[in-house]
Amino acid sequence: MPAIVIIGGQWGDEGKGKIVDHLAERASMVVRFGGGNNAGHTVVIGDSVFKLHQVPAGILRPQVAAVLGSGMVINPPALVEELDALAARGISIGNLHISTNAHLVMPYHILFDELEERMRGNLAIGTTKRGIGPAYADKAARTGLRMQDLIDRERFARRVAQALKRVNLELTRVFGQRAITVEEIVSQYAPAAERLAPFVADTGLLVHDALRRGEVVLMEGAHATMLDIDFGTYPYVTSSSCSVGGACLGVGISPIMIKQIVGVIKVYTSRVGKGPFPTELTDETGDWIVERGHEYGTTTGRRRRCGWIDLVSLRYAARINGFTGIAVTRLDVLSGLQEVKLCIGYRLPDDTVTEHYPPDTNVLAQTTAIYETMPGWQDDISSARSWDDLPPQARAYCQRISDWLDVPMDLISVGAERSELVALHWPI
Ligand code: IMP
Repeated sequence: MPAIVIIGGQWGDEGKGKIVDHLAERASMVVRFGGGNNAGHTVVIGDSVFKLHQVPAGILRPQVAAVLGSGMVINPPALVEELDALAARGISIGNLHISTNAHLVMPYHILFDELEERMRGNLAIGTTKRGIGPAYADKAARTGLRMQDLIDRERFARRVAQALKRVNLELTRVFGQRAITVEEIVSQYAPAAERLAPFVADTGLLVHDALRRGEVVLMEGAHATMLDIDFGTYPYVTSSSCSVGGACLGVGISPIMIKQIVGVIKVYTSRVGKGPFPTELTDETGDWIVERGHEYGTTTGRRRRCGWIDLVSLRYAARINGFTGIAVTRLDVLSGLQEVKLCIGYRLPDDTVTEHYPPDTNVLAQTTAIYETMPGWQDDISSARSWDDLPPQARAYCQRISDWLDVPMDLISVGAERSELVALHWPI
C-alpha cells in the first residue's frame, strides 16, 4: 500500500509544491492533509507559474485525483476562486474531491485572527490572517462547521445561528465590533456551497480504495515541521499537525499504509512571521539570499527572514517524521557564494553546546548557532540533471546534509521549473 508523505523540514516554503508535482508523475492521487489558504505552493511548468493555496499540487497532473483531506480548514469562496483561476488556465478540475469532514474557515474566523493578533501586540505570532487558528480552535471546541454543513442550506443556517450566539458576544463585548447576522454569512457562502457540493465526498474511503488497488497516493504536507502545533516553536506555529502524524489524522488512513516519508529541505532556512530562528542572518548575506531566492511570501507577499541551514533543527525534524529520504531544494540559490555555512550545534544560555534541538522555545530563542564552513561554488547549476553534473563543492555540501541527518537524498532541485531537478532515487 504505497502511501508517500511529503513533509517540510523547516519553517515552510521549502519548495514542497515542486517536489509533489514531480512525484505526482507516478501517482494516481495527491491528498492535502492540513491547513488552508495560509499555505502557498508554487509550481513552474515552462513559462507558466501556478500558485496554489488550498488545492493540492497534484491538480496539475491530468491523471491525478486531487483530494482536500479532512484535516484541512477550507475557505469556500477562496477555494472557488482558486478553482476558477485554474480552470481558466485550462487545468481540469473534474478529478477533485473535498472531504465532507473538512472544517470551514468562516468570515468571523478571519476577523478574530486579525483582532487577536492586534490584541497580542508585541507578542503577535505574525499569522497569515487567513483565520486558520480560530478555525482550528473551533474544531477542537466542537463548535466548528464542516463541508457537510455547508452543502445543506438549512442545516448551514441553523449551525451558523448556533455559532453566532457565542461569536457575537465575543465580537461585541470583547472586541467592540458589530454583530454579524446569519443572512450575511449564508449569502456570502451560498454561491460557493453550490459550486463545491458536487466535489464533496467520503475522501478517506477514496484514498483507502486507491491504496488497496496498489496505486501510489501522495500525501501533501503544507507548512512544515517547525510550524507544527505540537513539535514546532510553539506558540509561533500554525494550528495544524503538519508533521507526519498529521498525514494519518488529516486523511484517515492507518500509519502502516505509509511506505516513504520524504523530507523537503531547503539548502538555507527561511521563516515568515515571528519566533526564534537561531541561524537567521540580519546582514548583507541574508539580504543577498532573500533577493536571490525571491524570498517573499506566496500567500502574503511578506519578506521572509533568511539564514543558513540549521542541521540541529533538521535532525530533530528527521527524528519526529522518520524521513526515509530527503529532497534538497533551491541549491541554485546559493551559487556564487565563496563559502557556505551549516549550523551543526547550538550554544545554550548556560554556555554548554548541544547537537540536540531544545524543546523549550525560550531556550531556543537564546541559543547561538555553531557553524561549519564549506567552500561555495560559482557555476550556474540550473542545467544539472545528474549528480555528476553538479560542481564538487555543491555535491559535498548536499552530501554533508544527508550524512549529518543520516537520511539518503532522493532529489535535488536546482531551479524553479518542473524539469530543473536531479532525480537520484524514486521513493516509489
Ligand atoms: P497561521 O497559519 O496563519 O496561523 O500563521 C502562523 C505562523 O505560521 C505564522 O508565522 C505564519 O507565517 C506561518 N505559516 C503558516 N503557513 C505557512 C506556510 O505555508 N509557509 C510559511 N509559513 C507559514
